[in-house]
Amino acid sequence: MIYVTRREVFSASHRLFNPQLTDEQTDKLFGKCNNPNGHGHNYILEVIVAGEINPDTGYLIDLKLLKKIIIDNVISKVDHKNLNMDVQFLSGKIPTAENIAIAIWNELDGKIPDGRLYSVKLYETENNYVEYRG
Ligand code: NI
Repeated sequence: MIYVTRREVFSASHRLFNPQLTDEQTDKLFGKCNNPNGHGHNYILEVIVAGEINPDTGYLIDLKLLKKIIIDNVISKVDHKNLNMDVQFLSGKIPTAENIAIAIWNELDGKIPDGRLYSVKLYETENNYVEYRG
Protein backbone atom coordinates (compact mmCIF):
# COMPACT_ATOMS: atom_id res chain seq x y z
CA MET A 1 0.00 0.00 0.00
CA ILE A 2 1.28 3.41 -0.92
CA TYR A 3 -0.05 6.85 -0.09
CA VAL A 4 0.03 9.89 -2.36
CA THR A 5 -0.74 13.42 -1.11
CA ARG A 6 -1.77 16.49 -3.05
CA ARG A 7 -1.73 19.83 -1.24
CA GLU A 8 -3.84 22.77 -2.34
CA VAL A 9 -4.50 26.12 -0.70
CA PHE A 10 -7.52 28.36 -0.63
CA SER A 11 -8.57 31.56 1.08
CA ALA A 12 -12.05 31.95 2.46
CA SER A 13 -14.03 33.75 5.12
CA HIS A 14 -16.47 32.42 7.65
CA ARG A 15 -18.36 33.19 10.80
CA LEU A 16 -18.87 30.52 13.43
CA PHE A 17 -22.27 30.76 15.00
CA ASN A 18 -25.31 28.71 15.67
CA PRO A 19 -28.55 30.63 15.18
CA GLN A 20 -30.21 28.42 17.80
CA LEU A 21 -27.99 29.78 20.59
CA THR A 22 -28.25 33.13 22.37
CA ASP A 23 -25.71 35.87 21.65
CA GLU A 24 -24.11 35.25 25.02
CA GLN A 25 -23.79 31.49 24.48
CA THR A 26 -22.45 32.07 20.98
CA ASP A 27 -19.86 34.53 22.19
CA LYS A 28 -18.69 32.17 24.91
CA LEU A 29 -18.46 29.23 22.53
CA PHE A 30 -16.94 30.81 19.42
CA GLY A 31 -15.26 34.00 20.68
CA LYS A 32 -13.47 35.91 17.93
CA CYS A 33 -14.66 33.42 15.33
CA ASN A 34 -18.17 34.78 15.88
CA ASN A 35 -17.27 38.25 14.60
CA PRO A 36 -20.56 39.27 12.94
CA ASN A 37 -18.91 40.33 9.68
CA GLY A 38 -16.70 37.27 9.49
CA HIS A 39 -12.96 36.79 9.23
CA GLY A 40 -10.66 34.93 6.88
CA HIS A 41 -8.27 32.02 6.83
CA ASN A 42 -5.66 30.77 4.41
CA TYR A 43 -6.62 27.11 4.45
CA ILE A 44 -4.28 24.31 3.45
CA LEU A 45 -5.97 21.18 2.17
CA GLU A 46 -4.17 17.85 1.90
CA VAL A 47 -5.87 15.00 0.10
CA ILE A 48 -4.32 11.56 0.52
CA VAL A 49 -5.06 8.68 -1.84
CA ALA A 50 -4.09 5.10 -0.94
CA GLY A 51 -3.64 2.10 -3.17
CA GLU A 52 -1.34 -0.04 -5.23
CA ILE A 53 1.09 1.13 -7.88
CA ASN A 54 0.00 0.57 -11.47
CA PRO A 55 2.92 -1.38 -13.00
CA ASP A 56 2.29 0.19 -16.41
CA THR A 57 2.76 3.76 -15.18
CA GLY A 58 4.64 3.43 -11.91
CA TYR A 59 2.00 5.72 -10.42
CA LEU A 60 -0.70 5.13 -7.87
CA ILE A 61 -2.54 8.09 -9.39
CA ASP A 62 -1.33 10.76 -11.78
CA LEU A 63 -0.92 13.84 -9.56
CA LYS A 64 -1.94 16.14 -12.41
CA LEU A 65 -5.26 14.31 -12.47
CA LEU A 66 -5.62 14.39 -8.67
CA LYS A 67 -4.93 18.13 -8.73
CA LYS A 68 -7.63 18.67 -11.37
CA ILE A 69 -10.18 16.61 -9.41
CA ILE A 70 -9.51 18.64 -6.24
CA ILE A 71 -9.64 21.98 -8.04
CA ASP A 72 -12.79 21.18 -10.02
CA ASN A 73 -14.73 19.69 -7.11
CA VAL A 74 -13.49 21.73 -4.14
CA ILE A 75 -11.12 24.64 -4.66
CA SER A 76 -13.15 26.31 -7.41
CA LYS A 77 -16.17 26.26 -5.07
CA VAL A 78 -14.50 27.61 -1.90
CA ASP A 79 -11.60 29.87 -2.90
CA HIS A 80 -12.34 33.55 -2.18
CA LYS A 81 -15.81 32.63 -0.96
CA ASN A 82 -17.81 33.15 2.19
CA LEU A 83 -18.20 29.65 3.57
CA ASN A 84 -21.45 30.51 5.35
CA MET A 85 -23.21 31.83 2.29
CA ASP A 86 -21.53 30.97 -1.00
CA VAL A 87 -20.84 27.24 -0.88
CA GLN A 88 -23.65 24.87 -1.68
CA PHE A 89 -21.97 21.82 -0.14
CA LEU A 90 -21.67 23.65 3.20
CA SER A 91 -25.23 24.92 3.22
CA GLY A 92 -26.82 24.57 6.66
CA LYS A 93 -23.54 23.59 8.34
CA ILE A 94 -21.47 25.58 10.83
CA PRO A 95 -18.25 26.06 8.80
CA THR A 96 -15.78 24.73 11.36
CA ALA A 97 -12.66 22.98 10.09
CA GLU A 98 -14.28 19.69 11.15
CA ASN A 99 -17.43 20.25 9.10
CA ILE A 100 -15.51 21.61 6.11
CA ALA A 101 -13.19 18.57 6.07
CA ILE A 102 -16.12 16.14 6.11
CA ALA A 103 -17.94 18.08 3.40
CA ILE A 104 -14.79 18.09 1.23
CA TRP A 105 -14.46 14.33 1.73
CA ASN A 106 -18.05 13.91 0.54
CA GLU A 107 -17.35 16.06 -2.53
CA LEU A 108 -14.34 13.92 -3.48
CA ASP A 109 -15.68 10.52 -2.49
CA GLY A 110 -16.30 8.37 -5.57
CA LYS A 111 -14.39 10.71 -7.89
CA ILE A 112 -10.88 9.27 -7.46
CA PRO A 113 -10.36 6.88 -10.39
CA ASP A 114 -7.19 5.17 -9.15
CA GLY A 115 -6.66 4.06 -5.57
CA ARG A 116 -9.11 5.18 -2.90
CA LEU A 117 -9.62 8.35 -0.94
CA TYR A 118 -7.79 7.79 2.33
CA SER A 119 -7.69 11.12 4.18
CA VAL A 120 -8.71 14.75 3.98
CA LYS A 121 -6.59 17.06 6.14
CA LEU A 122 -7.55 20.68 6.53
CA TYR A 123 -5.25 23.22 8.18
CA GLU A 124 -7.11 26.30 9.37
CA THR A 125 -4.03 27.84 10.97
CA GLU A 126 -0.40 26.84 11.18
CA ASN A 127 -1.08 25.02 14.43
CA ASN A 128 -4.62 23.70 14.00
CA TYR A 129 -5.75 21.05 11.58
CA VAL A 130 -8.37 18.35 11.39
CA GLU A 131 -8.25 15.06 9.57
CA TYR A 132 -11.16 12.99 8.28
CA ARG A 133 -10.83 9.44 7.02
CA GLY A 134 -14.42 8.67 6.20
NI1 NI B 1 -12.16 31.13 11.92
